[in-house]
Amino acid sequence: MRIADDVQTNAAPGRDTATAARGVARHVAIIMDGNGRWATARGLPRVAGHRAGVQAVRRAIETAVQLGVEWLTLYAFSSENWRRPASEVLDLTGLLRHFLKSEIAELKAQGARLRFIGDRARFDPDIQLDLGHAERDTAGNTKLNLVIALSYGARAEIVAAAQAAVREIAEGRFAADALDETRFEGFLSTAGIPDPDLIIRTSGEQRLSNFLLWQCAYAELVFLDLLWPDFGAEAFAAALAEFARRERRFGARPG
Ligand code: IPE
Ligand code: IPE
Ligand code: MG
Repeated sequence: MRIADDVQTNAAPGRDTATAARGVARHVAIIMDGNGRWATARGLPRVAGHRAGVQAVRRAIETAVQLGVEWLTLYAFSSENWRRPASEVLDLTGLLRHFLKSEIAELKAQGARLRFIGDRARFDPDIQLDLGHAERDTAGNTKLNLVIALSYGARAEIVAAAQAAVREIAEGRFAADALDETRFEGFLSTAGIPDPDLIIRTSGEQRLSNFLLWQCAYAELVFLDLLWPDFGAEAFAAALAEFARRERRFGARPG
């Protein structure tokens, strides 16, 4: 696989130089959209699209490892997706349950360290247990940090962070004036995770749908016209190449 060699560096300032030398976005976050349309276009039920979407998840993880991406975040289920018809929610949670049973050993072998963000309390207790097991089982891995957003909504995350901060201030643990951006980030579910350099969304939609609103303040956005089940190594590499062509300024004047 030589794709990584073609990709120029474009990481955020002060970022790990080893990653910069390899020329890859350090943190890529993906809004995996278009499963339903993929299925409908084939005259299949939506669940077939979600199943094909799981295959694309496997490919994305493999490719991230091959390309040397350090952090990969996948938006798998939003807090708003609970509003879908009960049968679709059941299909999606069923696929999640199956994924957690069947994929963790492979992810462990690939060197992926899993972390889930989002409101896991909304899932059935057996799923919640498996989420915890997956995190613990892979905690020693270092090759790829894989973050999966489940029942995740950025606004809810920011409100929860604000509540936690206010609670600590009320307890006298720190002064209100000491609440700066760095301290606030420590209350988010992504505490300790670098901000995404690149957000990829498939399916042609050009919106964030409540994904990482705080964290993607300076992320580059790449919208791909293909549907998520059609996403593979080539599309991933094309998005990274597009990222490499962007001029990131972070508000400063270009040199
Ligand atoms: C993405 O595909 C999967 C989830 C949001 C869970 P969609 O199910 O949103 O597919 P489209 O957008 O209807 O095609
Ligand atoms: C965003 O896709 C959420 C995920 C990919 C998990 P949606 O299909 O739910 O987003 P909207 O409704 O088109 O904005
Ligand atoms: Mg969608």
